[in-house]
Amino acid sequence: MSRGFFLTFEGLDGSGKSTQLRRLAAYLEAHGHAVTVTRQPGGTRIGDRIRALILDSRTEPMDAMTELGLMFSDRAQAIAEVIRPALEAGRIVLCDRYTDSTEAYQGGGRQLGSEVVLRMHAVMCGGLNPDLTLLLLPDFNRSLARARRRNGRSDKDENRFETEDQAFHRRVYDRYRAIAAREPARVTVIAGDQSIEAIHRQIIRLVDEKLRAATPAS
Ligand code: ADP
Ligand code: TYD
Repeated sequence: MSRGFFLTFEGLDGSGKSTQLRRLAAYLEAHGHAVTVTRQPGGTRIGDRIRALILDSRTEPMDAMTELGLMFSDRAQAIAEVIRPALEAGRIVLCDRYTDSTEAYQGGGRQLGSEVVLRMHAVMCGGLNPDLTLLLLPDFNRSLARARRRNGRSDKDENRFETEDQAFHRRVYDRYRAIAAREPARVTVIAGDQSIEAIHRQIIRLVDEKLRAATPAS
């Protein structure tokens, strides 16, 4: 069975993930790769309904365990419907957020801890781990300011996490750094304080190298 390449983008809200994901997808397609782009929560019809529920700031009070379960329900659906079929077809899958988000936000931000998240990941995601994760880490205050500006421009209510306090986002940030320290072979930290173009160039250098290493010589 041919297997594609699974790449995830991670970082705080406003860290530049979707900007870089779009640019990387365009670059890879221009170089002849078959690319599938998706995001979590969302990316399937069921996932979009879960997304609307979890991100709406009127969905209160939601127990942290309910939130955790919904994140993994969304993910299981995306794996079954989008990610596994694409990987089995040999495609490159670019996913905006995956289980590291759950570890950072629910494990760190909501203080459920990493262990429960990793145990649920083992059960719900059937051992599917990214081949590469790009963690965009601009300065903490800068990424929060960017996310708030962007949400101010949107007519959708997707603010439930952005309205959390600074301490919550600081815990998310710290948990992300802990994940990167624990799994340096999978997770590459990108200092997000450079220009969009400079970050893009750094990402394509790294991805080209990883794709070459992942493709057996014929
Ligand atoms: P995310 O998907 O991580 O929430 P976005 O890609 O939507 O972040 O970026 C949030 C905002 O920050 C957007 O307005 C985007 O244009 C801007 N932005 C992204 N990357 C940079 C960068 N390197 N420097 C300055 N602004 C950026
Ligand atoms: P989204 O708008 O997709 O992210 P961004 O603002 O980075 O573009 O919003 C997703 C929100 O959901 C974000 O605040 C992080 C949060 N989230 C979790 O708390 N746990 C998870 O497992 C995932 C995938 C997202």
